[in-house]
Amino acid sequence: MQGRVLVVDDEKAMVLALKGLLGKEGYHVETAGSGEEALRRIETGSFHVVITDLSMNGVGGMQVLEHARRVDPDLAVVMITAYGSEKIAVQAMKLGAVDYVPKPFDNDELRLVVRRVMDTVLLRRDHRRLLEQVQGAFGFEQIVGQSPAMRRLFETIDKIADTDVTVLIRGGSGTGKELVANALHYRSPRRTKPLVKMNCAALSQELVESELFGHEKGAFTGAIARREGKFEAADGGTLFLDEVGDMPLETQAKLLRAIQEKEFERVGGNLPIRVDVRLIAATNQDLESAVRAGRFREDLYYRLRVVELAIPPLAERREDIPLLIDHFLREAAARFGRDPKPLTGEALRACVGHEWRGNVRELRSAVEQALLLAPGAEITAADLFGRPVEAAPAAAPLPASFREAKDRMVETLRRHAGNITKAAEEVGMHRQNLQQKMRELGLTADEAVKE
Ligand SMILES: Nc1ncnc2c1ncn2[C@@H]1O[C@H](COP(=O)(O)OP(=O)(O)OP(=O)(O)O)[C@@H](O)[C@H]1O
Ligand SMILES: [Mg+2]
Repeated sequence: MQGRVLVVDDEKAMVLALKGLLGKEGYHVETAGSGEEALRRIETGSFHVVITDLSMNGVGGMQVLEHARRVDPDLAVVMITAYGSEKIAVQAMKLGAVDYVPKPFDNDELRLVVRRVMDTVLLRRDHRRLLEQVQGAFGFEQIVGQSPAMRRLFETIDKIADTDVTVLIRGGSGTGKELVANALHYRSPRRTKPLVKMNCAALSQELVESELFGHEKGAFTGAIARREGKFEAADGGTLFLDEVGDMPLETQAKLLRAIQEKEFERVGGNLPIRVDVRLIAATNQDLESAVRAGRFREDLYYRLRVVELAIPPLAERREDIPLLIDHFLREAAARFGRDPKPLTGEALRACVGHEWRGNVRELRSAVEQALLLAPGAEITAADLFGRPVEAAPAAAPLPASFREAKDRMVETLRRHAGNITKAAEEVGMHRQNLQQKMRELGLTADEAVKE
């Protein structure tokens, strides 16, 4: 696609010359013999670049420019100006003309200007199209939920969408915290800038700081080259600090300073670096008790939770479960190239009653596995849970399943000699989620191996 150009001049010879010249370059060229005609054609023509003479009888180049800006802000206008009218040319640039070519010009110069302008316009359009796709993928469309709690969440996200406010997202493992962070960024004015994600858990202080702030060459053993941190990478955009509750205490102080002064130094450096970053943090920890226990700085806690978005566990919004099942079934069917299979009534009831300690993530993988492996035309409770489910209401936490889960976990850990990473791999979980589950079950790796 070479692009569509509108050439505007009331001098017929010039119009023809430009049409010939640019037509040879492969553009689709249309012409307007007056400013008035240009205004009309701009409305209907879907051009990428307008090349207009500045001084014409009647409607002049400036008016064409203003009109073009109004009709389509992406439309680029190149002004052709008579010798000596540089002042007006500068004025035109201020009004949004992207370039000007003084008369007389040579053909190469004009070709070059149009090429450059056209490339920019087409690139910007591609970028926008990509962005729309990404927004589709990360916008509300992907967050399924009709429950009052989820509706309130959407409302709050909408209210703060066009602000830079710092948001703390809270919720158990697999409740959709990252999904909400995506929605916040892609609905904010920063959506065209990077969304940089960083997990603050399970790293040493040195590593967390070098991840966050970057480091200078030689800052510590292994720092063989200067490295840019996440803060710098997120400049102009959003930095998502996941599992912020696990950030080392000393790093918290540096983070607070970086937030408040919008300035920080790389590890091993003393050059202050200024950035413009919007922060979103997430945690599934009880930060209040971490503050009381001295594991989390109180000042940082208040600085992060300017707005707090709490995502309730799936078991507290069971009305969302059928919607989510439908969503994941269709999505998985499309992804795996299968026909979606319905759940039996019994299976659906079992899902609605299930505990879902792993929340939406657990539901999602159960549905996907069942779709792939169910032998029949419908998905049964056995396909989902590996065994037939009794009719008893499962809403209340079941001590038996609790013990069962704990036993299974102990057994898996033992088989991997307490290596959480390997155990997590085997059961197809994130390491951090397994750790979280172990915490919930009151289990440590050492104990599991000893027991
Ligand atoms: N409301 C929802 N609608 C659709 N999909 C969801 C929803 N909530 C979560 N999911 C899906 O569940 C999975 C887990 O979501 P996500 O990673 O955002 O959770 P999380 O809270 O960040 O989990 P963790 O604490 O484990 O990091 C993802 O596949 C996500 O797409
Ligand atoms: Mg997450």
